[in-house]
Amino acid sequence: MQIAMINDRVIPYEQLEPAYLDRGLYFGDGVYEVLRSYNGKIFALDEHMNRFSHSLAAIGIETVDVNDIRDHVLDAFKKSEIRNARIYFHITRGSSSRSHSWPDDIKPNFFMTITQLEDSGKVKANGIAVSTYPDLRWKRCDIKSLNLLANVLAYQDAKKKGCDESILVNDAGFITEGSSSSFFAIINGSLRTTPLTSNILPSITRGYVLKAAQSIGVPFEEKSITTEQAKSADELFIAVTTKDIVPIVKFDDVSISDGRPGKITARLIEQFKQYT
Ligand code: PDD
Repeated sequence: MQIAMINDRVIPYEQLEPAYLDRGLYFGDGVYEVLRSYNGKIFALDEHMNRFSHSLAAIGIETVDVNDIRDHVLDAFKKSEIRNARIYFHITRGSSSRSHSWPDDIKPNFFMTITQLEDSGKVKANGIAVSTYPDLRWKRCDIKSLNLLANVLAYQDAKKKGCDESILVNDAGFITEGSSSSFFAIINGSLRTTPLTSNILPSITRGYVLKAAQSIGVPFEEKSITTEQAKSADELFIAVTTKDIVPIVKFDDVSISDGRPGKITARLIEQFKQYT
C-alpha cells in the first residue's frame, strides 16, 4: 500500500489532494508577482504582467495566457473592494508525483490572494534600519521565482537583529539588492543603484524611481556600490511595490548622515506620488 502522511494523519497515497503534489511545494517550481493598488486603482499592471510573462517563459511554462491572468486579477480586485490592496499571485508548473522532470501533460496551478495592505506611512516618515547578509541566491535572480529560501533566511536574520530589511552582498563585496526590495544610495548628489543583470530582479518600482529622478533633475548612475560606500553615503533607501520608497537611516549599526530620512529621498517620494 502506498501511503502519505500529513502531519499526524496517514492516508492512502492515491487520496492525496493535488495541492500536496504541487511542484511549487516540492521544488519552488513556479513564478509569482506582487502588485498593489492605490486608492482603488492597480499600479503598473502592464509592467507586472510583462515581467510575469518573462518569468513564465524563462522557466518554460508555455500554456498560460497572461491575458487570462490579467482578467482574473482585474475581476478579483473589483470583487474585493479593497482600495489599498496587495495582490499576490503565482503559477506553479502543476501537480504530479515527485520527480525532477515533469510530465508533458502537466497543467499549471494558479493561486491568488488580494489582501489589505498595511499602512507604510510610519516607516516612510521615520526610515528603517537594515543589516547585510551574503547573497546566497542562484544566477537567475531576474526570474521572479518561488525559490525564496535565500531571501527568507536573509530577511529572518535582519528581523533577528531588529532590522526591517536585509541587504544582500555578493562575493565581490558589492550590494545586489534587498531580500525583497531594490536598493539605492545618494552619493555626492547622484542616485546610484545596481545595474540590471540576471543577478537582481528587474524591480518595477526601481524603474519608477529612476523616472522620478530624471523628472526632478537628480542625476543617476546604474553602478553597484560596496557596503563601505553605503555606510558613508549621503542617503540610502529601498524601493518595493508594497511601500514604494522607504528611507534607510541605519545600515549595519552605522547611522546614515544625521540618522534621519534624506532630503533627496523625500523629493523622490513626493515625485513618486505623481505616478500613483
Ligand atoms: N518583492 N528585489 C527582490 C528580490 C524582490 O523580491 C522585490 C519585490 C523587489 C522589488 O520589486 P518590485 O519593485 O517590482 O516590487 C526587488 C516582492 C514584493 C515580494 O517578494 O513580496
